[in-house]
Amino acid sequence: MTARQLEHGGGRETGLAPVTLWFCPNDDLAPGITATLATYWLDEREQEIAGRFLFERDRRQYLVAHVLVRRVLALETGIPEAEAIIWRSSRGRPFLQAPVGGLPRGGNTLDFNLSHANAYHLLGVARDRRIGVDIERLDRGEQALAAISETFAPAERDWIAAAVPGRPRDRRVLRLWTLKEAYSKARGLGLGLSFDSFTFTLAEDRGVLDFRPPADDSAARWRFLEIEPAPEVVAAVAVEVDGGRPPSVHLHHGFPWGRAAPRRMVLPEPAGV
Ligand SMILES: CC(C)(COP(=O)(O)OP(=O)(O)OC[C@H]1O[C@@H](n2cnc3c(N)ncnc32)[C@H](O)[C@@H]1OP(=O)(O)O)[C@@H](O)C(=O)NCCC(=O)NCCS
Repeated sequence: MTARQLEHGGGRETGLAPVTLWFCPNDDLAPGITATLATYWLDEREQEIAGRFLFERDRRQYLVAHVLVRRVLALETGIPEAEAIIWRSSRGRPFLQAPVGGLPRGGNTLDFNLSHANAYHLLGVARDRRIGVDIERLDRGEQALAAISETFAPAERDWIAAAVPGRPRDRRVLRLWTLKEAYSKARGLGLGLSFDSFTFTLAEDRGVLDFRPPADDSAARWRFLEIEPAPEVVAAVAVEVDGGRPPSVHLHHGFPWGRAAPRRMVLPEPAGV
C-alpha cells in the first residue's frame, strides 16, 4: 500500500466503528479556560490529584489531559463531561463505566487510553476492542534514552546500536519504546510487563515488520500504527483486532471544541507477514 493510500484509508472504510485518535498540545487550551473547565468537569479524585502537584507546569499538563479525556468521552458517548464515571484497575488503567442501560450513543463498549509528554497529549478511543497509546518527545536527553534501551531485547538493542548516534539513534529508541508502551498499556499492564519479553522488528522509516508477543499472547491479535503528529514527537498506537478486519483510524488534531474533519488512516498489516 502506498503512503497516499495509507493516509486516506486505502480509499475504503471498513464498516467497523473507527478508532479515533485525539492529539492535543497544551497550547490549544488557554490556562484560564482549562482551569474553569476542570472546576466543572473533573471528579473529586482528579481535583485532589491536580491539587497535589508542586509545579504549575505539571498541574497544567494534568488538567489539560483530563479535560481532554472528558470532552472526547462526551463527544463519543453523549455522556456529559462531568457525569462520566472513570474507574481504575488495580494497575491504574482507567476505564469508562457504562451507565445502566448502556452508553447513550455509539454502541456499548468503549475503551480509551491516554498518554502525555511534556505539553502534548494523545488519547485513543476504540469500540469493542482494547487500545493503547504512547507519545514521547525526541528532546528528552540521550542518557535517559540509553537507560530505556537497556530494557529492550538483544536484537532490538543491536538495531539501535547500528544507527548513527544522535537523532537517528534516539528516534529508533523512541519508536520501539512507544510501541512497547502502547502494547503494554492496551493490555493494562503498564510497566508491569517486562520489555524484553516481546519484540518488534521495524522498517527503516516507519512501520512494524514483525511482532513477537509475550508467551501469553498472539501476534495476530494486534495491529500497530506509528505517527509523528508534530516535529520531534513520536507516538505509537496498539489496537486489538483479534485476527479480524482492522477498523480505520481517524486522527483529530487540537482540542475538540467542534467536529473538524479528521485525517483518515489505516492500521497497516505487519509488512513481514
Ligand atoms: C502506565 C504507565 C506505563 C504510564 O507510563 P508513562 O509513560 O509515564 O505515562 P503516559 O503519559 O504514557 O500514560 C499515563 C496515562 O496512562 C494511563 N494508565 C495508567 N496506568 C495504566 C495501565 N496500567 N495501563 C494502561 N494505561 C494506564 C493513565 O490514563 C495515565 O494518565 P493519568 O494518570 O493522568 O490518567 C505507568 O504509569 C505504569 O506502569 N503504571 C502501572 C503501575 C502499576 O503497575 N501499579 C500497580 C499497582 S499500584
